[in-house]
Amino acid sequence: MQFEFILTEVHEHVGLVRINRPKQLNALNPQTMDELTSACAGFGADPNIGCIVITGNERAFSAGADIKEMMEASVLDMLNNPLLGYWDRLRAVTKPIIAAVSGYCLGGGNELAMACDMIVASESAIFGQPEINIGVIPGAGGTQRLTRAVGKAIAMEVVLNDRRLTAQEAYQWGLVNRIVPVERYLEEAIRLGNEIAARAPVAVRLGKEAINHAFDSNLGVGIAYERRLYYMLFATEDQKEGMAAFAEKRPARWSGK
Ligand code: CAA
Repeated sequence: MQFEFILTEVHEHVGLVRINRPKQLNALNPQTMDELTSACAGFGADPNIGCIVITGNERAFSAGADIKEMMEASVLDMLNNPLLGYWDRLRAVTKPIIAAVSGYCLGGGNELAMACDMIVASESAIFGQPEINIGVIPGAGGTQRLTRAVGKAIAMEVVLNDRRLTAQEAYQWGLVNRIVPVERYLEEAIRLGNEIAARAPVAVRLGKEAINHAFDSNLGVGIAYERRLYYMLFATEDQKEGMAAFAEKRPARWSGK
């Protein structure tokens, strides 16, 4: 597939998607999100790929939704605009997705990073939801995902008063998994991706599904859901292999079945 606003690469078992609109600080328009989610769906269906990494460049992961493309929009234009639906499309990808974030990670860009499963941040990463400065609020899940990640108090400051979080603060508040020097953040995200890709594929898939379910349900419903997925894994060859390998004191050989 030919893409205009993204680049794709394969690093062993990791599919890498780079947002590539550097002049606009990787601002997200419908075409960019269409390409990005199509590439993720493609990697999702590729048996050689076990994990996906989404990144931008050192200066900007993404500065958010493309403001210039929506400045004159009416409510009806926005209702008919497919842009926000692409965040839902990303949710349908069953393989883990890591955001490798450096520089600006703002508005829809931060909402994209938060829609991923993990975030590896460079020391220069800046996270924020600056929509208040342009008279709106986050529209791609920011108020919900940020609040779940960092709690109500910090989320209020970020959304109502454009408080920007440094990489260190984002780490401290549980938004990101780790902070890495700028020269190595992408390499580290790919390394982490390959590490996860080497694990039992069905268990990885159901683990992601179960954790994401925690955000959609109360504790009792979530625990019952997790239990069903856990029992389901006993129908896989990888469960038999993993437990046999443990008992025989040898590394497991995963078949993904
Ligand atoms: N949309 C469109 N263009 C953008 C953009 C955006 N979100 N962010 C940056 N750009 C463009 C700038 O217009 C500029 O283009 P020109 O050279 O043609 O003028 C270019 O990228 C470089 O930007 P700056 O000159 O502004 O660079 P800077 O280093 O001075 O500032 C910045 C960087 C602080 C990120 C600043 O660009 C900025 O504040 N950007 C907007 C951030 C924002 O408000 N994001 C939220 C968007 S709304 C949204 O995302 C809604 C949602 O929930 C889905």
